[in-house]
Formats: sequence, C-alpha cells, structure tokens
Amino acid sequence: MAHLEILKKKIATGKAQVGIIGLGYVGLPLAVEFAHAGFKVVGVDVDLRKVDGLNKGRSHVEDVPSSTVKQLVQSGKFTARADYKGCGKMDAIFIAVPTPLRKTRDPDISYIVSAVDQIARELRPGQLIVLESTTYPGTTEEIMRPRLEAKGLKAGQDFFLAFSPERVDPGNKLYETKNTPKVVGGTTPRCTRAARMFYETAISSVHTVSSTQTAEMIKLLENTFRAVNIGLVNEIAMMCEKLKLDVWEVIDGAATKPFGFMRFYPGPGIGGHCIPLDPHYLSWKLKTLNYSARFIELASEINGAMPELVVRRATELLNDCRKSVKGSRILILGAAYKKDTGDLRESPALDVLQILHERGARIQFHDPYNKSLRMEDGTVKRGKPFTPATFKEADLVIIITDHSCFDYDEVVRHSRVVLDTRNATRSVKAGRKKVHSI
Ligand SMILES: NC(=O)c1ccc[n+]([C@@H]2O[C@H](COP(=O)([O-])OP(=O)(O)OC[C@H]3O[C@@H](n4cnc5c(N)ncnc54)[C@H](O)[C@@H]3O)[C@@H](O)[C@H]2O)c1
Repeated sequence: MAHLEILKKKIATGKAQVGIIGLGYVGLPLAVEFAHAGFKVVGVDVDLRKVDGLNKGRSHVEDVPSSTVKQLVQSGKFTARADYKGCGKMDAIFIAVPTPLRKTRDPDISYIVSAVDQIARELRPGQLIVLESTTYPGTTEEIMRPRLEAKGLKAGQDFFLAFSPERVDPGNKLYETKNTPKVVGGTTPRCTRAARMFYETAISSVHTVSSTQTAEMIKLLENTFRAVNIGLVNEIAMMCEKLKLDVWEVIDGAATKPFGFMRFYPGPGIGGHCIPLDPHYLSWKLKTLNYSARFIELASEINGAMPELVVRRATELLNDCRKSVKGSRILILGAAYKKDTGDLRESPALDVLQILHERGARIQFHDPYNKSLRMEDGTVKRGKPFTPATFKEADLVIIITDHSCFDYDEVVRHSRVVLDTRNATRSVKAGRKKVHSI
C-alpha cells in the first residue's frame, strides 16, 4: 500500500503515533489537541524539568491546565521524554523548538538543525515531518530537506515534509489551538495532503498553500503586519503627545469606521518570542538577496524606542513633583510582555526597569505571575504585594502590563501619580488628574 494510504488508515483508526518536539507555548497545546483527537502522543523536550513535571501531571504553560496534562498522562495518551529514542516509531513528528535571534539579530536556527539531525537518525519511509517553528522562507527546503534526505529517502516519495506556521496567541480565550485555522504547505502536493490529513483530526480548519516557502512567508507577513502597525500607532501616540491630543480617543474615533481601519494600540514597547523577532527573520533573508526591508527596520526602531519614551515621560512626571528619578520610589505594575501571561521574554517592562534602575531610581514591581525579577547586574528584585501601602509609598506608579486581575480603581485611589502606558485605567472615574498617558 502507498505510504499516504497507510498513513490515512492509521489516522482513521486512531492508531497513528504522534511526536511533538519542543513542549513549550506552542508544542504543549498542540500535543494536547492531538491527544484529545485520540492519538498516542510522545513529547520530546531537552528541558528535563519540563519533562519531569509533565510526566507528573504538571503543566508549565498557562493555557494548558495541569488537570488536562494529568488526565492525558494517566490515560496513557501522553508521555514526555528528554531524548529522541523511538522517534522512528512515530507516524508524524511536529517540531516546535525556539527560533531566537543571535546578538547580531541574525536568525538562530540551531534548535531546528539539532532537532532535525536527531529525527534524521531514525527517519523511516512513510513518516510525516512538519516544522511549526517560525522561520525565514526556505528553511524547510534548504535546511531540513537535505538533512532528512541524507540517507537516501526522498521527500514526497518516501516520507512527507511540510511547514505549518503556529499562530497560538497565549492568553487568548477565544482563539485557541483548536479553533485557529492552520496553514499548511508541503514540499510536494502529497506532503501537503499528508499534513492536512493529520491537522484535520485536531484543528477545525486547514488552509493549504502551494509550497513550504509560501507557508513560511505567510507567518512572517502576519507578524510583520502586527509589528509595522504597532510601530505606526506608537508613532501616532508620539504625534498626539506633541499635538496635545488623547491618542486613545483618536483611536476610538477612527475605529467607528466600519471598513478599512483596524485597531492597534500604542504601548511601552513590544515583547514576546514573536513580534519583536520574527520580522528580522524576513529582513535577514531579504538582505541575502540584496534587498532592504525598510518597513521592518523602521517599525523595529520605533517600537524599540518606546521603553526610553516611557522613561522620559516618567522623568517629566517626577520633575512636575519637584523630584528626580534618582532616589525616587517607582513602582512598575506588570512585568510580562502581555496581559494575563507570565511570559517575560523581550518584555519592555524589563527595559524600563533596567533604565530606571541604572538612573538611580528605587525600583519596585508587582506582577501576579512573576514573584521576582533578575536585573542585568544579577541582583534579584522581589515583587511587592498589591496593597494600598505599596501604591501609597511610591512616588510614581507605571502601568506596563494591563493584567485583567488588577483593580485599577484601587491603583488610582492609592497612588500619587500614575503613568498608564496601556489605557488600563480608562474606566476609573475618580482621581483622573493623577493619571497620565504616554
Ligand atoms: N509562543 C508563541 O506565542 C508562539 C506563537 C507562534 C509561533 N511561535 C513559534 O513557535 C516556536 C516555539 O516557540 P515557543 O514559544 O513554544 O517556545 P518555548 O521556548 O516555549 O518552547 C520551546 C521548547 O523547545 C525545547 N527545545 C529546545 N531545543 C530543543 C531540541 N533540540 N529538542 C527538543 N526540544 C527542544 C525547549 O526546552 C522549550 O521547552 C518558535 O519558533 C516561535 O517563534 C511561538
């Protein structure tokens, strides 16, 4: 029987075995969806603590409850391991390892290379290998394919190879892994079909495209679109400040137009593993083709300058109270890069904190998801409790992350001056004079 038919049968009978490489924000929810679809899932992660925790029923990803992991482990549907042994037994392997930038802002695809090299050792005919990590167009064909074909098996003929970008939005309760449409592009049409068959068991909608490169580019368009529009609205915020206009009122007004406008919000800067990094994968690739991705560079410059702008506003507000940054008590409210998560990766809060710390401010912070923070000089800051006393003793409170659990009435009531970088206090009526925006 042809490999595709065998795979189809295994999927239909629920006998296909799934491997997920990298059990982080992307890999773990995906593992859960495939396990819920009825497959036996083995997750591989090089982080022993995560593997150990998962096998004991403990989740390290906020969107995946520990009770779900526990139930899947107990029912034998999910196990985690720290090595790649037995990869050859998997019918489909999905790779969701990190794709960071090097210090030079060049793509670091070493995690993908390492994962693929280990998969290649046990690669067998009939397997489906899908890359989900965000990367530049050409990675699947130019980096993965030669490594997987090194022992003589051919993609599209002996095994299936595809790219499917991950769109998970941590903390989003409306769109989760299952109901977020999946884009799939294979090395050949048969590869696309194989990947599509698998995803259709677990994800409600699958959109196929003509190649792995197109699928890779789609993800980069999505995230570049966000980075550029956030950059634009951050610049509009700077213009509004000069024009003495309320940027939030301007955005609300523009958003009454039912077509041709989409809301984006200014803020203290961009963070996380995706928006600040992914566009650089694209601009790097284009540089190799002697093309400069100007929108990406400009957005990166504007968004990257926002923490400095927050510090400037903080300095002005303290100045109005006859205080200097040096020696002032500044409370940073929220440290994660986005609300309702604990994710600190690339968080602008860390930049704001670091700059103010270096300028001699007595920095304090509160974030319900992070009890302590490590500064660049190695000192560890312990979080303050969310109490009236915490706000009262601060010369200035800066809202960086608008976690939903914060009582903003309380924040404004007990603070002397508030710099609200997210418009989080918009519904607070009393004490508005104390609140300032960026
Ligand atoms: N987090 C998001 O919101 C998001 C959204 C869409 C796409 N992505 C992309 O998905 C990919 C994964 O991101 P993430 O947020 O899940 O990262 P993560 O850091 O949360 O998880 C990655 C996991 O891979 C493990 N790992 C590293 N090298 C490995 C190896 N060689 N073998 C096995 N495991 C290995 C790490 O220990 C970690 O647990 C990245 O390319 C990212 O850009 C992330």
